[in-house]
Amino acid sequence: RPKVTVNTIRSLYRQNIAIAALTAHDFPSATVADRAGVDLTLVGDSLAMVALGYENTNQITMDEMLSHCRAVARGSKSPFLVADLPFGTYEVSEEQALQNSIRLIREGNMEGVKLEGGIEMADTVKKITTAGIPVLGHIGLTPQRSVSLGGFRVQARTATGAKKLLQSAQALQDAGCFALVVEAVPAPVAKFITQALTIPTIGIGAGIECSGQVLVQLDMLGSFDRFSPKFVKKYANAFETNASAVAEYVREVKQRVFPAEEHTYPMRSEDDIKKLE
Ligand code: KIV
Ligand code: NA
Repeated sequence: RPKVTVNTIRSLYRQNIAIAALTAHDFPSATVADRAGVDLTLVGDSLAMVALGYENTNQITMDEMLSHCRAVARGSKSPFLVADLPFGTYEVSEEQALQNSIRLIREGNMEGVKLEGGIEMADTVKKITTAGIPVLGHIGLTPQRSVSLGGFRVQARTATGAKKLLQSAQALQDAGCFALVVEAVPAPVAKFITQALTIPTIGIGAGIECSGQVLVQLDMLGSFDRFSPKFVKKYANAFETNASAVAEYVREVKQRVFPAEEHTYPMRSEDDIKKLE
């Protein structure tokens, strides 16, 4: 499969072919996304919750992100690679945002960055895109701000809310975002925004009428057994599958059934074995 670039994303959008995005947090999950034909692999800061066990996304550091970015990059050939700017690494100033975006590119081997927020982030987006770094916006439910939003809840449920969200979407488009993640808004709102924009929307909990979709890989594979939002479809139950496989391993170790002959190295000759007896 040829390498996906921002041009590929634009071309898919122009041809009305849905963009398939998925998160990856390490080498194996990146390899799975690559092999399965994902267009855009996102090293989302959902990493904090689903892979590192933090309560929310706001504790993860730049260094933690960078380490996972590098692993994802090593496992990816084709997908376009985007990483989240962690909470606290882009809000202080436009310079801070650009500096940390550059780190995700240079040290994380990413190709673009994602940041959360609406119209108030437009100047920051402009600063980063002017340096030649593709920016993916993120509006609607913005998990880094879940405390001030009063929790992880659906956004823009009124016409007024939808129009305000559209203003943000348009400001981010004008600032140079190549696409926008639209999270946890009613389907008619995502449709309204998608129709008004000239860049793709990547929906998560935003209905079928977005230009593409994204899910958290560990959520959709059923690997994360704590909490799952309404919008997660579980395509597998990896937690159960993995837990029962590990339980069988434990049983076989206790019963001295594993390892069998085929998992064991022989010596050079029978003679060598005799010399040990
Ligand atoms: O952190 C993440 O995985 C995300 C996606 C769910 C959009 O931001
Ligand atoms: Na995120």
